[in-house]
This record gives sequence, structure tokens and C-alpha cells, in this order.
Amino acid sequence: MVSRLCDAHRVQRARLFALLLAGCGGDPAAQSCDGLPLDDRVTCLLEAMTASEKVAQMHGSQLGPVDDLYVTPAVERLRLPGFAMVDGPRGVRAGHATAFPVGMARGATWDPALEERVGEAIGRETAAKGGNVLLAPTINVLRHPAWGRAQETYGEDTLHIGRMGVGFIVGAQQHVIASAKHFAGNSIEDTRFEVDVTIDERTLREQYLPHFRMAVQEANVGSVMSAYNQVNGLYCAESPHLLRDILKGEWGFEGFVESDWILGTRSTVASALAGLDIEMPAPVFYGARLEDAVAAGEVPMAVIDEAARRVIHKKLEFAIDGVDPNVGDDVVESEEHLELAREVANKSLVLLKNEGALPLSNSASVALIGALADVANLGDEGSSAVEPTTSVSPYAGFVDRLGEAAVSLFAVDVLDAADASAASAADAVVVVVGLTGEDEGEKLGPVGGDRDTLALSDEQQALILQVAALHDRTIVVLEGGASITMEGWIDEVEAVVMAWYPGQQGGFAVADVVLGAVNPSGRLPITFPVSETQLPAFDHTSAAVTYGYFHGYRHVDHEGLDPLFPFGFGLSYTTFTYGAIRLDAVTASADATVTAEVDVSNGGTRPGEEVVQIYVAFDDPPLERAPIELKGFSRIAVDPGETVTARIEIDLATLGHYDGGWQPARGPYRFLAGSSSRDLPLEATLTVE
Ligand code: BGC
Repeated sequence: MVSRLCDAHRVQRARLFALLLAGCGGDPAAQSCDGLPLDDRVTCLLEAMTASEKVAQMHGSQLGPVDDLYVTPAVERLRLPGFAMVDGPRGVRAGHATAFPVGMARGATWDPALEERVGEAIGRETAAKGGNVLLAPTINVLRHPAWGRAQETYGEDTLHIGRMGVGFIVGAQQHVIASAKHFAGNSIEDTRFEVDVTIDERTLREQYLPHFRMAVQEANVGSVMSAYNQVNGLYCAESPHLLRDILKGEWGFEGFVESDWILGTRSTVASALAGLDIEMPAPVFYGARLEDAVAAGEVPMAVIDEAARRVIHKKLEFAIDGVDPNVGDDVVESEEHLELAREVANKSLVLLKNEGALPLSNSASVALIGALADVANLGDEGSSAVEPTTSVSPYAGFVDRLGEAAVSLFAVDVLDAADASAASAADAVVVVVGLTGEDEGEKLGPVGGDRDTLALSDEQQALILQVAALHDRTIVVLEGGASITMEGWIDEVEAVVMAWYPGQQGGFAVADVVLGAVNPSGRLPITFPVSETQLPAFDHTSAAVTYGYFHGYRHVDHEGLDPLFPFGFGLSYTTFTYGAIRLDAVTASADATVTAEVDVSNGGTRPGEEVVQIYVAFDDPPLERAPIELKGFSRIAVDPGETVTARIEIDLATLGHYDGGWQPARGPYRFLAGSSSRDLPLEATLTVE
């Protein structure tokens, strides 16, 4: 064991375990625990620790990072490493690293298996940088697309977020501990440090928590980060209901809870009693104050023991036993990771409108227009920012495909007369517009924060209209972390592609989709409303907000509104036909899992990928409920002329509702299958007993 541990430290090139190297082969107390089964080893180490050493396991070491990593104390004499934590959701925020498409883009792939590969790649790069805790994934519900950090999460639906989050965690935890964040109800940025979210128990349980439960129970996530905000009058880091009753109690979470940074911990006694295991990034309320509280009898030693046990357990499991000696620097931005970033971008772009304009032919000449046309727009500039060595703008992507002579660039906000006449001579014009990390993201002073409007800026809308008037083949490429409204210009253009923040390889994907080298297969993981009036109000200035039961597609469906583009929607260059749906049972118990088979044919001439979606209809719910809810999905590849059967598992427990406790579903239910929440041609019935 000792030599294995020492070897592991050498592999990590000293940063993370520097303190420990001195201890290799050292303290007899540590050696006496070596070789025991994991749980016994944890107990043995705990017994060998002083109260101060245990308390010191419950906070970070210092405010700022060391070599880009936020560290927590080691126990040198016991050869117990510290944690080395690093963001984040779209790649490792340490030096140069692979910048993947943002979470929302990956949500648009509807592909948990692909997300597992992304998680694994980011976990691998984290390990290569000497980290052992990855501060990701962000799995908050997108309650409203104006949320500044929308891009970090996967979408608006709890099942979809849960499936994607589970994929990421399973992948990342091949190498390091993942920390699912921000628990819970965190979906407003500007007031994040103080906002009190009032939310009834049913809404919390049905809409805002199931994806966290999946992260715990299906992916065995090692860490959960509590959110800055309050829920029902208590800061999340001091909420016994969230941390003790639900997370650690009902769900049986075995990992550790860490606070969000700096203002994420607000108290000593209340937080410790509520079940906050680690204060990050430095001891303000924990450390000496926590030791005093223990001495004064305000915090029982059992609480400290429990937290220290959780921390040590994960350290042994991941930071020592889990260290992969084969991970070296060469994995960072490796060929394989760059290819993966490109594959994900290819599958994440959503073709929203296409009036025969796309795909362009490979021999076309194209004018790329807009200030973002030659920018690799990676998104948030806050904690999820990643700095790749190289990145590809849309312009560079087109040049790569068509050659420089066929692509003209007008990186301007408005075309002058000479530009306008040059651009109109091209076979097609592609206007690249949208948001950047300046406009939305983690709020850092004037940068980032929530959006005031879902519309594009006036300049960008004017540019689209100017170009559309010039050319009858105007393609708009939108960039941003969530829905953008298109009133006033959508009818004037021939095609619209939602590109999100597509990562460092994103420019290739934009060109490949527009030129047809890639058949678009992304599907919206959120609702695109006609206007903001179709959504619940979003208040990013008030210190108190109420989250209602309905948001996203549940809201527009419940209100009978027609969104601009519905949840689950996305076009392809081929046509899919839905043939038949079969359930493997006609009756089943309320906790059963049933399998639906859905036949899908490709009637076009190109191979394509379709995301088959299954919703359940709540025709006569015991409590008011959305008319339909997503209950399963599967991405399938279908060749021209071929029929493929998608197999989709449906967990019937998710049909229940919360009313003082989980109430199981009962009675006949219609299961609807199709290509979006508003296109569900197939139906099968099953009775839940
Ligand atoms: C963010 C977290 C992040 C942490 C560390 C906080 O401000 O809310 O998501 O992991 O900083 O960078």
C-alpha cells in the first residue's frame, strides 16, 4: 500500500500530494490501517485522528487556488491527501484544457452515452492537472432562459437533466470525484448570494430535485455542492431538510457536501448541524470557530465524525485507490479529446428553420457576416470558463471546408454599401449573431449575469434584417446559452441554426451542418418561446421569489400556448417516419420499469440521427399537472430506407406525484412517442396497478 501510494504521488507530480511524499512509509498509525477493507480503513484512520485533525478535514485551505487547484488540508502523518478541486462543467479550468461545448449544447444531443465520454475526458484532464475533485456537473433546472448560467446545465426537464448528469458523473468518476451542483433551486444569477426561493414541497420534489436524486442513486456521485441561495428561508448550506432529511437521509447519499465558494457558507453551528461537510474555499465559519463550537457543546462530536468519515472515505476511494497512474499531461487537448469535442458539437447544433436553404452545396460561395463570425465563442467567463490552446471560429470552419477564396468575411455590426454589394454576390449569406460571456454567465461585476431580455440586441436584429433584404438565402446562426426570441426577423430569413456555445471545435460543426457534411441532429432541451410573455416571470432583482409548479414546456402546454419552437424540437436533412409503438406490458406495478419499442424509418436520402421521445399524458391527474411529461428518450441512427427500433425504458415511479409523501401512479396512462413534445404521432396505453 505504502509503495502504491507513493507511486501514485509521483504520478501526480507532487502538486496534489506534495505533503504526503514526506510521509511515505512514515507514521505507524497510518501503516496499521493499511490493507484493511475500505470501511475499516476509514474507521481505523478516524480513530487515529485528533479532533482538530478531523475538523480540519471540513474546510478548504485558502481563498485562492494553488496552481489553479482549490486545495483542502492533508493529514501528513496519516498520509491522507488533501482534495484538489477544479472547475468545471465544460472542461478543466486550469491552464490550457479542452473546451467542450457547454452543458446546454450537450443537453441538445440527448445522448447520455456521449455525455459519459465527455465526463470521462474532462475527468481524465482533471486528473492530469493534479486534481481529484471536478466541480461539475451543473444540474440545476433551467426555470427561465434568462438565467445567466443557463448554459452550464442541460435543460429544463428533470428526467433529461438527470440522464445527462448521470452520464457525465459516471464518466468523470472513472478518474476523479464529481461534484453535482448547485443543490438546490439555483436558477437566478444576479441575486444568487441572498435570494430566498419559496417553493412548495411538491414542486421541489417533482421538478427541482429528481435529477439530483439520480446523480446520487444512479451515478453514486461523490460530492454535492450546496447552492448559494436560500430555499424557504434557509441558506442551502444550512438546510437540514435539503441536506440531512432528503440528500443524506431519504436518498442515502454517502459522499460529502461542500459549500459553494466564499458566500456559500453563512454559519458555523447551523451549517454543521444541517450536514454541510466542507466549507469552501477557506475556513471562515469552520476551522477554529467550529472547534470552539464543539468545545462549547453546540456541535456534537458525532457530527464532526460523520463529516470526517465521509471526507476520508472519498479520499481513500478516489484520491488514493482511484488514482490512475496512466494519466499524463498528454491527455490534455489530446487528438482524441478534440475529436470528441467536435463530435459533440456536431450532434448539438439544432436546425430550427429551413425553407429549402440548407444544406448549401460544397461548391457554394458564402459570405460570413457579423461581429461574431470570426470569433470562437466559448461562453461564460466565470467559473466554467476554459482556455483551449486553439479554437475554431465559424469563419475558420467554412474556410477549412471551402477554401479561402469561396468565403468572404464581414465581421461588422452593419454592412456599408460596398460590403452589402459584395455580400449579396455570394451564393448564400450566413449571419452569426447571439450572446457572449459578457452578456450572460456567472456574474463577475459587469460581466455575465442574467439577461434582461431574450431578444437579440437591436444592432443584431437590424443586421439580420439588412442582410435578409439583400439575399434570398439568408442563414442565421445563433450563439448563446439558452432560448433566444426571434420576433421581428424570423419570417425574413430562410434558415436558423442554434449553435449554443459549441466549444473550441465549434466552428467546424457550424460549417459542417450548414454545408451538409453533418446532418443536424440536435434537439432543443428547452422551450423557445415566441416572446417572454409565454413564460413565468423572471425576477433577477428581488431578494425573494416564488417558484411555481410549472415552467418550460409544462408551462406552455398547461397554459395552452404555442411556443416558437417546442421542447424536443429539431429538424434534419432527412425525414423520419414513426411506424409503431409497443410496450412490453399492458399492466404493470407502480414501481416497475417498462420498455417501449418505437419503429422509426428514414424516408430521405441521407443517413440521419433521430431522438425518439416518449411522454406520458396525464389526462385525469389527482393533482393539477402538466398535460404531458417526458419519461424516456433514445438517440438512434437510421440509414436511408432503413427502419430502426428504439428501445426506451420508462420508470413508472416517475409517474407518481408528491403529496406529503410519494404517491404512486394508478390507472390507465397513454404513452406518446414522437420527435418533439408537440409532435407525438404514436400512442400506447398501459394500466398501472
Ligand atoms: C460557483 C461554482 C464554482 C465555484 C468555484 C462559485 O462561484 O458558483 O459553480 O464551482 O465558484 O469556482
